[in-house]
Amino acid sequence: MTQSMIPPAKPIIGDDEREAVDRVMRSGMIAQGPEVATFEKEFADQMVGGRVCVAVNSGTSGQHLGLIAAGIGEGDEVIVPSFTFAATANSVALTGATPVFADISRDTFNLDPVSVAAAVTERTVGIMPVHLYGHPADMDALGEVADRAGAQIFEDAAQAHGAQYNGQPVGSLARSACSASTRRRT
Ligand SMILES: Cc1ncc(COP(=O)(O)O)c(C=O)c1O
Repeated sequence: MTQSMIPPAKPIIGDDEREAVDRVMRSGMIAQGPEVATFEKEFADQMVGGRVCVAVNSGTSGQHLGLIAAGIGEGDEVIVPSFTFAATANSVALTGATPVFADISRDTFNLDPVSVAAAVTERTVGIMPVHLYGHPADMDALGEVADRAGAQIFEDAAQAHGAQYNGQPVGSLARSACSASTRRRT
């Protein structure tokens, strides 16, 4: 019996993408340059309601930069979901801070605000919800937990380009967000 697999993620690479890569290669400018500036502007306007976007080499780098820009480092704790891609916790560990794992909700697979509240300590400075599989996390409830803890929210939107939460694009809901993963999700 043959079994057909349903891939959880499948890159879509068409002629437009091939031509864009070719254009950059031919230009000889393979770091920064006008293509990157255009991409940042288009991504900002079309995906995150005009918020400032900076293109970096990976989602991990984006998360890491957001955290260090907020002054997070050794001795701090950032709460992350126990079910996500490794980049989420890695970006916290790279700062010297400790990633603290909280449970996910059975219904959405996203960070459970009750579990997050239980994981808060006096060292908690951040909460990093992941909008897993394109499904937005419960940002209102997580925002309340963050406010009570005096912590900041850092969105991991690497799997959720174009998703919205209460009519607002994910990646525009917190202090900083990583939206541009190196892979495109279907
Ligand atoms: C949830 C999540 N966060 C972050 C990333 C970014 O990972 P990378 O550093 O490999 O681009 C990914 C990539 O798939 C992801 O799925």
